[in-house]
Amino acid sequence: MSDEMIHWLLQSAAEHPDLARGVPPPGVFSPAELLRLEQFRFDKRRREWLLGRWTAKQLLRSHLREQHAFDAPLDALVVAREPGGAPTAILAADQARKTGWPVEAVEELPLIGSAGEQPEGPPLTVVGVRLPVSLSISHSNRAAFCALLPTSGANSRSQIGADIEQIADRSEQFRTSFLTPAENQWISAAAADLSNTLVTATWSAKESVLKALQLGLTVDTRRVTALCQAAGDLVQWTPVQIDCDSAILPHPNADDGVSTAAFYRLTGWWRVEDDFVLTMALLETSQGIEKPKESIDGEIHG
Ligand SMILES: CC(C)(COP(=O)(O)OP(=O)(O)OC[C@H]1O[C@@H](n2cnc3c(N)ncnc32)[C@H](O)[C@@H]1OP(=O)(O)O)[C@@H](O)C(=O)NCCC(=O)NCCS
Repeated sequence: MSDEMIHWLLQSAAEHPDLARGVPPPGVFSPAELLRLEQFRFDKRRREWLLGRWTAKQLLRSHLREQHAFDAPLDALVVAREPGGAPTAILAADQARKTGWPVEAVEELPLIGSAGEQPEGPPLTVVGVRLPVSLSISHSNRAAFCALLPTSGANSRSQIGADIEQIADRSEQFRTSFLTPAENQWISAAAADLSNTLVTATWSAKESVLKALQLGLTVDTRRVTALCQAAGDLVQWTPVQIDCDSAILPHPNADDGVSTAAFYRLTGWWRVEDDFVLTMALLETSQGIEKPKESIDGEIHG
């Protein structure tokens, strides 16, 4: 298993009886996370948050086991939110010290990164170290899908985006409002019985790209074109050809000395799992692009 591997995990609410009931299983959440959970007003959001965090924590723990031979308690693996909403993984300070993390890396970090999202009361924080991983979380209909990319060395600026969507029949208006003409032509040229799957996969792949770019749905989805290949076994990871408006790519640092488009590469994959599609998008900088292609390692429970 190489350092550059993308890890992923799919879990359903049936994984643990407490998740099925919408309550936190013991030993999984830190005190700040339990306070955060109490702030959700809607049961659906509470359940998806629980299942998404559960899945992310399982994935982080197995990564730390493999990479650092360290068995972290789940309640020491905290998933916080960056200001734009993207998740970030934190290892609580007491556990970080046990594994020899440099003491100066320990910070007090907000659990929710944006003032606009802060519910009333004192801000929730966690004291710990940011783990060198890029993490992405998605929920759909009592399932959660997470992907993790280690971001050490040449991968330090790479970012992963992941999305899960239930396959559904979408209207013509959906196709014209959210997909590009190139995507619609690509889907129309494929077998008719794949149409719903491909429309769902295309939408999902665009969301994965926008998560890898840490933008979410703040930009028009037609600024990304995702062509999901449909030859072969669709329950295996299958390539997605991605093109996007270079204006939505992050700006290279001044000392990188290159133009935006030359500096970044976006790669995508998709697959079918029961009545869901899973997609992932990887944003790499030219620092990391010379190395061999990522391999994809994962597990399904549900
Ligand atoms: C991010 C976004 C694309 C997610 O789409 P979705 O299909 O509804 O939800 P998913 O379950 O697939 O993904 C949700 C997860 O994406 C992640 N996420 C949120 N914003 C993100 C961003 N800017 N970049 C990367 N990941 C992000 C979070 O981990 C979130 O789960 P969490 O809140 O439990 O931590 C969408 O919610 C979005 O763009 N939101 C920002 C814009 C916004 O809030 N608009 C208001 C709409 S009323």
